[in-house]
Amino acid sequence: MIEPSEIERAALVLKQGGLVAFPTETVYGLGADAGSARAVARLYAAKGRPRFNPLIAHILDLEAARRQAIFVEAAEKLAAQFWPGPLTLVLPRSPKSTVAELACGGLSTVALRAPSHPVARALLRDFGGPIAAPSANRSGHVSATTPQHVRADLGGAVDLVLDGAAAPLGVESTIVAVDVDGVSTLLRPGVILRAQIESVVGALTSRPGEAIAAPGMLASHYAPHARLRLDVAAPAPGEAYLAFGAPAPLNGLTLSERGDLIEAAANLYAHLRALDATGASVIAVAPIPAHGLGEALRDRLARAAAPR
Ligand code: TXA
Ligand code: MG
Repeated sequence: MIEPSEIERAALVLKQGGLVAFPTETVYGLGADAGSARAVARLYAAKGRPRFNPLIAHILDLEAARRQAIFVEAAEKLAAQFWPGPLTLVLPRSPKSTVAELACGGLSTVALRAPSHPVARALLRDFGGPIAAPSANRSGHVSATTPQHVRADLGGAVDLVLDGAAAPLGVESTIVAVDVDGVSTLLRPGVILRAQIESVVGALTSRPGEAIAAPGMLASHYAPHARLRLDVAAPAPGEAYLAFGAPAPLNGLTLSERGDLIEAAANLYAHLRALDATGASVIAVAPIPAHGLGEALRDRLARAAAPR
C-alpha cells in the first residue's frame, strides 16, 4: 500500500526537479516534471537515453491533454474510448503546450497518455501537470515491471521509488500517431489491440522500420545481456528456455503454461530478467502466436533479439 503522504512527497520531489519512479498499469515509469527542461535533461541522463528519443507526457485526462496537443476527431474518439488506459497518442504539439521541447526530442509532435493505475493517477493529481515518463529501465535494457527492477537498473539515479506491486499488464502502451488530417498510424503495438483501435478509427497505416516514426522503436531495445533466439521449439544444450503453452522446463521458465497471452505479457520482462540472471549466454524463446496481444509480445522479443 502506498500512503497518500508518500504520493505528496513524490509530487514535491517532481516539483523540485527530481526523478520519481512510479507504477503504471503497463510498466514502471521514471517520472520528471515534463515542463522543466532541466528535470527532463536529468531524466535522459539517468536512463542513458539518447536525446533524440522523445518521451511520453503523462496527463490525468483528455481535458489536460487538450492543452498540450491538437485533437482532431479521430484522436478525440480514441481518447474517449481508451483513456484512462494503455494507449499513447502522438499528436501535433499545440503552440500552447507546456511540455518542454527537449521531452519531444525536437519533433513537432507530442506523445500523451492518461494512465489508469491509481498510484500514477494520484501522483498526477497531486503534481498538477504533465509528467514525462519513459519506462524505468536503463536505455535499451529490459523494461521494469517491479520496484526491484527499477532499483537494479537505476539505483541511485532515482530520487524516490513509489513501491507498489508488479505492473499488472507487463508490456508498454500501444502508440498511435494521429496527424492533422486524422490519418492514424500504429507506431508501437501494445496492450490495446490493433483491432480495437481499428474499430474506432478504421484501418491503421503501419510504418515498420521507417525513420522518425517512433525513434525508440528502431534500434535494439528491451534487451537482456544474453543473446535471444526466437521461435525455438526445442532449445539447444546449455541454452536457457522461455516456454509458452507448456510447463516450465528444468532450464527455464514459462510465460504461460496454458498458453494465455495476457499472462505471458505480465511475465515477459520479469522472466527475461530472471533468465538473464542465471548467466546463460543464450535465451531461446518458444514460438508466440502473432494474433491479439501476441503482436506486441513478438514486437518486443524481436527488438530484444536485434543485433546491438
Ligand atoms: O506504457 C508505456 O507507454 C510506458 C509507461 C511508463 O507509460 N512508457 C514507455 O515509455 O514505454 P518509453 O519512453 O519507454 O517509450 C515511449 C516510446 C518511445 O519509443 C518513443 O520513441 C516514442 O514513444 N515517442 C515518444 N514521443 C514520440 C513522438 N513525438 N513521436 C513518435 N514517437 C514518440
Ligand atoms: Mg522503454
